[in-house]
Amino acid sequence: MRSVADQSVEELGGRLSVLARQQSDHVRLDGLLHRLRASTHEEQLPVLLELYRLVFPHAFAEESVLWPVMRRVLPDGEELTLQVEQEHQEVNELVTRLERLELGSPEREAAIDRLVDVLREDVRDEEDELFPRLQERVPVDQLRLLGIAWEVVSRVAPTRAHPIVARRPPGNVIAALPLTILDRSRDRLDRMRLRGAGPAEGALHAASSALTRVAHAVEHHPLMRGGEDPSTRVDPKPGVPRGLLVAGALVAVAVPIALAARRRR
Ligand SMILES: [Fe+2]
Ligand SMILES: [Fe+2]
Repeated sequence: MRSVADQSVEELGGRLSVLARQQSDHVRLDGLLHRLRASTHEEQLPVLLELYRLVFPHAFAEESVLWPVMRRVLPDGEELTLQVEQEHQEVNELVTRLERLELGSPEREAAIDRLVDVLREDVRDEEDELFPRLQERVPVDQLRLLGIAWEVVSRVAPTRAHPIVARRPPGNVIAALPLTILDRSRDRLDRMRLRGAGPAEGALHAASSALTRVAHAVEHHPLMRGGEDPSTRVDPKPGVPRGLLVAGALVAVAVPIALAARRRR
């Protein structure tokens, strides 16, 4: 079996093939990890934002589109996909910790070191083991169909860490819509802050933090945890107040509308 990393785009089934799309995202990820390593503490923030925007939709599309296929076509698909789901789970937990750790603290630097290592391990497992196995079992035309499905899903997927949500369908698929709206609203607010928001900085920071809290509360809903393997399960907090869920839904609707109105002005 040849690693996907050593194959040309033609050998992978052309640009539409899910394997070529994976290879190109992994090359982009490698560039971002090098930039993160070369960044000062202050420079880390925009690089991390770009990294999350690549990594989380990419992994969500793997978990909802690709791994179910691998479990169907490979006799040891369960074992192989569980290993990468555990890596994805660790990435989700590390990034959630990073949100709380102080810039430049030794704990934060250690979490970033581990994040870089786990992301590199995940790419190696996929390119050297999982994808060559998929390539053996699935004809090229299906690899292209999978590529289209994977691309569509990754374009509308959540863009932030959600360690409580199941790493498998149906929980992650149910979670996708509310979390995508919350995450992408938060992305816009954070990008505005990074560009320099002046006197609006405090308000934008407060709105972004509120969205983070709402997203982490929403992901505790039992429907979003369905299908989870016990090894990637994080113990839930006791019940989420219904009021917070309603507030979350309202914020998720209001923020994109407010941002769109601001852009039109
Ligand atoms: Fe991947
Ligand atoms: Fe992955």
